[in-house]
Amino acid sequence: MKTVIARSSVAPSLAWALAGALAGALALAACGGSSTPAAGGGGGPAEAAPGPLAAGAWAAMDHDARLEFMKRGLMPVMAAEFKAFDGERYADFDCSTCHGPGAAEGNFELPNAELAALSVDMIMNPDDDHKAITEFMGAKVKPGVARLLGLAEYSPATPDGFGCFACHPMVP
Ligand code: HEC
Ligand code: HEC
Repeated sequence: MKTVIARSSVAPSLAWALAGALAGALALAACGGSSTPAAGGGGGPAEAAPGPLAAGAWAAMDHDARLEFMKRGLMPVMAAEFKAFDGERYADFDCSTCHGPGAAEGNFELPNAELAALSVDMIMNPDDDHKAITEFMGAKVKPGVARLLGLAEYSPATPDGFGCFACHPMVP
């Protein structure tokens, strides 16, 4: 299997998204745990890593490894982001905030029909009530989750990348 180079492409400007996860990785390493990212080429089976994943690693992970990464790698970073944006609204931030009530029964399918349905126009020209959260989504959530999972972010140049519609349904 091809060895995937991890972390080398992490831009300093992303420190906000990664600081918590990297701190976790260091703590693990200090305790003698493995800090090798999943699919890092250690020879063992893909294992969940607390830090941002290398490109391609997420796709290669099985269900258990993904679940573990969500818990230890994504949740701490994203919970902090959502709470920093609105601590009251996201006081109970958990798996179901993104995945919907089905998460409690092990259904993690996305997009989540409980999230607001979006149109391209709503993304580009949000009304006054949704300006702040739309900006937060575009500045922190979309790029933050994409980087944690080692996925390319959606852009006109990378139309298959990770974007708003990974989580949100489209207005029919
Ligand atoms: C910030 C939003 C967010 C939160 C919070 C979140 N997830 Fe996820 N989760 C995602 C996204 C996005 C994906 C899909 C990534 C992809 O494959 O495009 C995903 C995928 C998964 C998958 C893989 C599903 C599959 O079929 O491959 C599992 C399992 C999962 N999440 C479990 C959890 C658990 C457990 C929690 C809580 C500890 C959690 N998630 C919290 C956004 C979130
Ligand atoms: C990783 C999953 C994920 C991605 C990607 C994502 N969102 Fe969200 N979005 C959420 C969650 C979770 C909420 C909060 C729902 C809640 O408050 O209960 C939310 C809330 C919103 C809301 C508020 C809806 C309302 O009725 O108050 C808007 C608007 C929004 N997102 C727009 C966007 C836009 C625009 C993008 C792309 C730039 C985007 N989102 C990307 C998960 C995501």
